[in-house]
Amino acid sequence: MSKLPDTVHFFDTTLRDGEQSPGCSMTQPEKLEMARGLADLGVDILEAGFAIASDGDFEAITAIAREIRGPVICSLARAKAEDIERAARSLEYAERKRIHVFLASSDLHLQYKLKMTREQALERAAASVKQAVQYADEVEFSPEDAFRSDRDFLCTMVGVAIEAGATIINMPDTVGYGTPSEYRQMFEDVRARVPGSDKVIFSTHCHDDLGMAVANSLAAIEGGARQVECTINGIGERAGNSALEEVAAALYVRADHYGVTNNIKMDHLWGVSQLLSKIISFGPAPNKAIVGANAFAHESGIHQHGMLSNPLTYEIMTPASVGAPVNRLVLGKHSGRHALRARLIELGYKLSPEDLEVAYRAFTEVADRKKNIYDQDLINLVAHHERHQDLIAEEPAAH
Ligand code: KIV
Ligand code: ZN
Repeated sequence: MSKLPDTVHFFDTTLRDGEQSPGCSMTQPEKLEMARGLADLGVDILEAGFAIASDGDFEAITAIAREIRGPVICSLARAKAEDIERAARSLEYAERKRIHVFLASSDLHLQYKLKMTREQALERAAASVKQAVQYADEVEFSPEDAFRSDRDFLCTMVGVAIEAGATIINMPDTVGYGTPSEYRQMFEDVRARVPGSDKVIFSTHCHDDLGMAVANSLAAIEGGARQVECTINGIGERAGNSALEEVAAALYVRADHYGVTNNIKMDHLWGVSQLLSKIISFGPAPNKAIVGANAFAHESGIHQHGMLSNPLTYEIMTPASVGAPVNRLVLGKHSGRHALRARLIELGYKLSPEDLEVAYRAFTEVADRKKNIYDQDLINLVAHHERHQDLIAEEPAAH
């Protein structure tokens, strides 16, 4: 088998698969704003929408194709002539165009959704890819529900798509059913068995129904995928898609393990996540990796002490490396004297060890009552202590 490229391409589908999920629809100006952020982030391919789905989608793709330079602009199409024509028209002004054709390969989808035989599906796949090749610089083919497809038939369909001219083969786990080792194996099998595999780029596309989308995407990279399809904050159908920021961070922090490069600007991750959250009006869970509000927050005293001594004790990447605000030592009932002292110094109070002890005791009382301790609580606490000291100092000496 020929040597794999060292670079993994990031294919962002926030504006297509991401937008397909409840509460995530975006207007055309919002999609454009998001597309600018994604281009600045360094995504290699930007799936701008599903042109046949609506006039709004078509117009948004056209606007993105007109303005955005850098990433390849991709438009999704079912394996149908009218879809492919519409996708082609939506890309008219793009600098670099990709049409992404998909057709189910699992028996379940063929029988119950498409009511097609396997033979008909193969003919349709070949005809559609041949049509798309006439309109775009590159054609991606996805056998939908690839992971649950009969492996021999999947290989046949991938072979037919390659022969017809597809240069990117995406093998989705459409329903988030696979485990990392199985999904990796599928890439290894198909690459080994299908003639022409060494001439195309294999791509991973995972859904998070069992919470394994990112692990599966990374496993696919180990199995030879060199394109990863993902979305910002992991938004997408049902439980979502692979989160771009998590895949990128894993490749960056564990470069020793994965040994591949990519074009993502890591320090843009936080900003793009915030941009999406602002646009769709909801953000990631606070404990979400990389971009959650607590991703770099430390509350327990032991952790805070470690962080103050050396951040490597409890952080595997710096907040700055992903563009997040500096690490936040959150003061709460689990915090210790070190963190309290550090925060008070930041606020301009340098207390003697005795005063710090008094302040710490007052702090633990407040922390027992309140979930969040704000800077103002600390200022009140110190001011109260100072007033108290002044009163003692002013008291007339006892006779
Ligand atoms: O999940 C899926 O199979 C898809 C295809 C259109 C690639 O989104
Ligand atoms: Zn999908």
